[in-house]
Amino acid sequence: MPSDSSTLWFATSNRNKFHEAQSVLSRYGISLRHLRRQKTEIQSRSLTTIARFAAEKIAVKESRIVVVEDSGLFVEAIGGFPGPFSSYVLTTIGLSGMLRLIHGFRNRSAYFQAAIALSFPGSGSAMFTGYARGRISKKARGSQGFGYDPIFIRNGATRTFAEMGLEYKNRYSHRAVAFGKLARWCRARGIARSETTITTES
Ligand code: IMP
Repeated sequence: MPSDSSTLWFATSNRNKFHEAQSVLSRYGISLRHLRRQKTEIQSRSLTTIARFAAEKIAVKESRIVVVEDSGLFVEAIGGFPGPFSSYVLTTIGLSGMLRLIHGFRNRSAYFQAAIALSFPGSGSAMFTGYARGRISKKARGSQGFGYDPIFIRNGATRTFAEMGLEYKNRYSHRAVAFGKLARWCRARGIARSETTITTES
């Protein structure tokens, strides 16, 4: 049995992801706490498979209800790359390398995907996905958010996620969509309803 069956623990080393998720869930009155744990990241083309594997492992180990999110940027002109390798690509070639990779392509369409696993110790997982569709900008612009935000322009917008800011992102991002689904799922089952705000654990 979980040591605490009413608390959702988001296992991530990315503070930005945690704060974005928490901001979305708070709109639904769902509380989320930060579990700073390294997740096991298996090799797979599927973000859902990667997230589920990591979440189930941590849920059993910690005896807690665990949330793991795996996300990535998929760029159409280069066959959906970097996708599951988004983190590696960002730390190696960076935003400028990504812009160079697609330099000269007319098609700059891209999307973000977020896959979330909500795992109950020894009892499997519920899965939620979200997408944000748009295009890659010509230059990096803006200072808010993280990762690829300075080069991603959502459909219908003219400015990047990093220029639009967190309020916009927390409404329309892949993460906002996926966590919105998770929140409605939890509300329907009376899971983790609370007024609790920011809490972290080291
Ligand atoms: P992971 O899910 O921790 O494996 O991270 C995937 C990669 O995609 C990281 O390099 C992030 O920077 C990037 N990424 C994920 N979500 C976002 C986002 O909302 N904005 C910008 N980059 C993101």
